[in-house]
Amino acid sequence: MSGDTSETPTEESVLVVDFGAQYAQLIARRIREANVYSEIVPHTITAAEIRDRAPTGIVFSGGPKSVHVEGAPVIDPEVYELDIPVLGICYGAQLIAAQTGGSVGRNERGEYGRTELTVHDPDSTLLAGDPEEQTVWMSHFDAIESLPDGFDTLASTPDAPVAAFESVDRKLYGVQYHPEVAHTPLGQRVIERFLSDGCGADRRWTMSNVIDTQVAAIQAQVGDSGRVICALSGGVDSAVAAALVHRAVGDRLVCVYVDTGLMRKGESEQIVETFERNFGVELRHVSAGDRFLGKLAGVTDPEVKRKTIGEQFIRVFEAAKADVDGARFLVQGTLYPDVIESGTSDAAKIKSHHNVGGLPEDMDFELVEPLRLLFKDEVRSVGTELGLPDEIVWRQPFPGPGLAVRIVGEITAERVALLQDADAIVREEIRLAGLEREIWQAFAVLPGVRSVGVMGDERTYADAVVIRAVTSEDAMTADWARLPYELLDRLSNRIINEVRGVNRVAYDITSKPPGTIEWE
Ligand code: XMP
Repeated sequence: MSGDTSETPTEESVLVVDFGAQYAQLIARRIREANVYSEIVPHTITAAEIRDRAPTGIVFSGGPKSVHVEGAPVIDPEVYELDIPVLGICYGAQLIAAQTGGSVGRNERGEYGRTELTVHDPDSTLLAGDPEEQTVWMSHFDAIESLPDGFDTLASTPDAPVAAFESVDRKLYGVQYHPEVAHTPLGQRVIERFLSDGCGADRRWTMSNVIDTQVAAIQAQVGDSGRVICALSGGVDSAVAAALVHRAVGDRLVCVYVDTGLMRKGESEQIVETFERNFGVELRHVSAGDRFLGKLAGVTDPEVKRKTIGEQFIRVFEAAKADVDGARFLVQGTLYPDVIESGTSDAAKIKSHHNVGGLPEDMDFELVEPLRLLFKDEVRSVGTELGLPDEIVWRQPFPGPGLAVRIVGEITAERVALLQDADAIVREEIRLAGLEREIWQAFAVLPGVRSVGVMGDERTYADAVVIRAVTSEDAMTADWARLPYELLDRLSNRIINEVRGVNRVAYDITSKPPGTIEWE
């Protein structure tokens, strides 16, 4: 794992030590929501490395292992001598107990899910002012049995006699439950009290600070000469990165927007409107729809489609950049989760994703990555703060190969136009229903199936359109969205009545896995 970005942009920071990947990111996000910058570090970090980084506090994440099994991850015990406050969560809390002289027992049965917590010490630092009874989210098998001298037990549950503890003198705190998840309603307060009262943090990390720091960092990186290029994809990340770089370097920025002809309806116009007219950014709008459609003629295999589009994209971009004199820097909208995960991903290739709509690695540019410390929700806040319109900031993820991966079979101009119209209706109705922010993606698919229908006493034989709407946290897994029947009804009526060539609408009720979000 390469979470060590060592670029701490503020005086105050918390290091989240990762003992099991699925928990650490969420904890880091919650800390940032409490206005303290946080970074994820591997548990192999040494006490000396931590001391050099001088964090305001440290949080140990949960993890899937038992502290008793061989090879269970531990932390350099010198960390407890650094005089830096530590909060342990679940496995992290057990580890603190086990490493400082307490004991952790193997329970007969574990506790999973919502559990009633009884608070014994509402005057403590960690649980100050909490009600005596509250619901918390548990997920553990082992439980702390005893604590070293000088530690106080603050709360318990039926199967965890020590569900929360602290030693103010030693600056060590722990909770057996998960304060970072939404199922622990008072969880964020635990994190905030640890930061304010346990660590004495001022909590001043905000998105306007991020903008100021990143603008200064970009200016320092690009110096006084050389133009900066940014490939706009239509997505939120490249848009926010471009707006941020524009604030830092003004008219030294030139954006390249490759219109593949496979974009959503109105997307190209909106990009031109926002960047050229509103922001006054120099925009090279390359209309390459004919070129892409030409290369895709007769192509039906999904992987060949993706590769064809990826290759053409690179060619078109290279031609556009050759026209920009003195271009030395390339902006990329890399986000923090990509930084954390780079190097660890050994997942099997399901689709050849990330080289599509992306750029080759051997380009002769210095990369500017102003979002590499941010999570997606933070990127959205930065975008809003920079004045980008909601339609861009809250735009759904859109795949690099565009509508091509939503058209099964051959791609023609007519089929793209049909899908654009159907897709625009889906997006509009989702927005009108107020579901835009709840739903990860909602779009139309052209499955290449025709069926018989009857319209106005006439027999029809026309295309079917499939509606795909999913909820998801990160697109790695997804569930089909339980859209209200009335909405599905409206979608069906509008698509059949307004989009010529469609006589049937179906709703995709496949989760991921086993399906993927896109159809190809
Ligand atoms: P799948 O279909 O694999 O998609 O479940 C997961 C997420 O990734 C998006 N996606 C892509 N994004 N280039 C991208 O930048 C691609 O080639 C690509 N293919 C899929 C998809 O929209 C979903 O959000």
